[in-house]
Amino acid sequence: MTASKWPGIVAVALLSGCDKPPAPSPFQAVANVKQLMAGVLEPAADLYWDAVGTVDDQSGSKAHAPATPEEWTAVRNSAYVIAESGNLLLMGNRLRDQGDWLRMSQALVVAGRHALAAAESRNTTAVFDAGAEVYDACTKCHAVYVNNTK
Ligand code: HEC
Repeated sequence: MTASKWPGIVAVALLSGCDKPPAPSPFQAVANVKQLMAGVLEPAADLYWDAVGTVDDQSGSKAHAPATPEEWTAVRNSAYVIAESGNLLLMGNRLRDQGDWLRMSQALVVAGRHALAAAESRNTTAVFDAGAEVYDACTKCHAVYVNNTK
């Protein structure tokens, strides 16, 4: 190689470093935040919250809990949806900012993880407590980002 070739090689290296377009995003967000809430997160959270609790009827107050392996699997699966929805809230233009939104979406992932562990333990008290933590993650974000004046 002759010395006269070096400037060209350096120029090509610089160009390829500076002008490379950003890698295209590998995913395509399909639902907006509102659609994700109504179509994905809310149904999963409702299933989780309804899984354990007490029902009042004429004969008094009765505790209820999942009774079959299939019912426990459904509760566990709803916890996966809750946890992963926190990640979905961080993708593409659903990510509103790097501050509260980021933090509160991550808090939903954490609450969802706890909900998952509780469902896997099949401990109704743990499911009840994790449900409260999930609820807290929802309401904290809504307090900041949802217009409550209507
Ligand atoms: C990181 C923020 C964030 C978290 C966490 C969050 N939400 Fe939301 N949610 C929003 C925003 C923002 C809206 C308003 C969307 C709009 O109207 O464009 C919303 C709206 C909703 C709506 C109304 C949807 C509609 O059709 O009008 C429901 C239901 C809902 N959320 C349920 C939940 C539940 C259940 C959880 C927790 C399991 C949760 N959200 C957690 C940000 C969040």
